[in-house]
Amino acid sequence: MAAYQLSVNGKMYNVEAEPDTPLLWILREWLDLTGTKFGCGVNTCGACNVLIDGRALRSCQTPVRICEGRSITTIEGLSTDGSHPVQKAWEEMSVPQCGYCQPGQMIALTGLLNQTKKPSKEQIASVMSQQLCRCGTYHRIEQAVNRAIELSNQ
Ligand code: FES
Ligand code: FES
Repeated sequence: MAAYQLSVNGKMYNVEAEPDTPLLWILREWLDLTGTKFGCGVNTCGACNVLIDGRALRSCQTPVRICEGRSITTIEGLSTDGSHPVQKAWEEMSVPQCGYCQPGQMIALTGLLNQTKKPSKEQIASVMSQQLCRCGTYHRIEQAVNRAIELSNQ
């Protein structure tokens, strides 16, 4: 076991864990931030996405030992009042069905928008095609992605 100090959604947390413990476990089981989901556990679905220093990464594949000193944002930290453009777009387009994959979808797009406010179709496809939705909400996700880009550029 080792001690780590983690910055999550602007708050500092002290945790003790084995160095290879996935960040996903820490978030869900110890910090009670259950918006981040466990889907596949093997880097294929994107349900576990979080932002680390603004970039979307898969928390099931991210050991806690590399998280100290970095800024972690989960779906709960996008905004508390729903004012983030991605949150607004998802609400406007009523995207979710069961909802399970949606935090990961939203974080993936937020990571892309953190890199560029005007992503190309290819950039969008390259990021969003890595996010699985078992309910098949892809059409609404596509609409929400376009709306979020509009809102981000207003
Ligand atoms: S749970 Fe991490 S990629 Fe699926
Ligand atoms: S909304 Fe159910 S898995 Fe995507």
